Amino acid sequence: YKQENGVVTKSSPANIAIVKYWGKRAVQLPLNPSISFSLKNCITTTKIKYTLNKELNDYSFNFLFENKSNSKFEEKLLQFFKRIDHFIPWLKHFHLNIESSNTFPHSSGIASSASSYSALAKALAEIHLQITGVTLPQTVVSEFARLGSGSACRSTQEGWNIWGDSSFEGSNDQYALEINPLVHESFMSIQDTVLIVSNQQKAISSTKGHQLMENHPYKEARIQQANKNTIQLIEALKNGDWDLFIEIAELEALSLHGLMMSSSPGYTLLLPNSLTIISKIREFRASSKIPVCFTIDAGPNIHVLYPESNKNEVLEFIERDLKKYCINNLLIKDSIA
Ligand code: PMV
Repeated sequence: YKQENGVVTKSSPANIAIVKYWGKRAVQLPLNPSISFSLKNCITTTKIKYTLNKELNDYSFNFLFENKSNSKFEEKLLQFFKRIDHFIPWLKHFHLNIESSNTFPHSSGIASSASSYSALAKALAEIHLQITGVTLPQTVVSEFARLGSGSACRSTQEGWNIWGDSSFEGSNDQYALEINPLVHESFMSIQDTVLIVSNQQKAISSTKGHQLMENHPYKEARIQQANKNTIQLIEALKNGDWDLFIEIAELEALSLHGLMMSSSPGYTLLLPNSLTIISKIREFRASSKIPVCFTIDAGPNIHVLYPESNKNEVLEFIERDLKKYCINNLLIKDSIA
């Protein structure tokens, strides 16, 4: 080995999907293409201290999240290491001391698995470089992240990313492709204010939700819908077409929740305040003509999306009409990174 011990620190943002990844095949391959942008303020930073142990021939690591151990995440890490170790055969011979922290409150309901696995993937790639002298391609870094948590593969690069095989050239199931050069400038500064409606752990995990797509009665229709929305969203992003963008973003968010409600068993993650916020956003858009819309992940929180040029008016609207529906008035002002 070129180096027998060292410390690396890497950061990575969370991302928010406009076309949603929902449903997977083994191993961590998506049923449909998805498109997201990375966030600026919701970041995970991961520090790994690595030490060669010549006697070692199995995974050996400690993991601390914000100075606390977490046995559930340790189990997930083990599964992740098993999935990636054929890329980095040194893994079983080094002890890893991993420490991770987020810039966003962990009880904010913001999913941190994308930023966590992406930061971890980048850190492992950096260790690989230090101990072998070989730079892993960006595609492999994204693939590592995907093997941790599917949507994480879209967090290893900034800006807009597409993941999953589609008629868009180069898109594929293994890793995400950054599409920033084709995106209109008004979408390269898109704003996202996250309204925290609940910070409780959700009743049904995304893992379970993905599983429920396997025998979902609308599975084929969903795959077709996501493919169509992917191609249309790329057109909207290219042309700076906010009307089309809004149509797709809201349809995708509501379709995601519709799929949850119509799976077997069906379930709901939206709360009364989520629905109130949605209708207030639509009323405000109709009366102000400002291109503001919502998207939603697998939870009750609402992401308010709008152009930077309308930031003042929209933030005023949020403060006045929406903030009161957030738990403890909690919201996160963010934008594309
Ligand atoms: O990466 P996972 O398994 O946590 O799935 C995330 C799925 C959604 O956030 C609901 C949609 C998406 O594309 O990010």
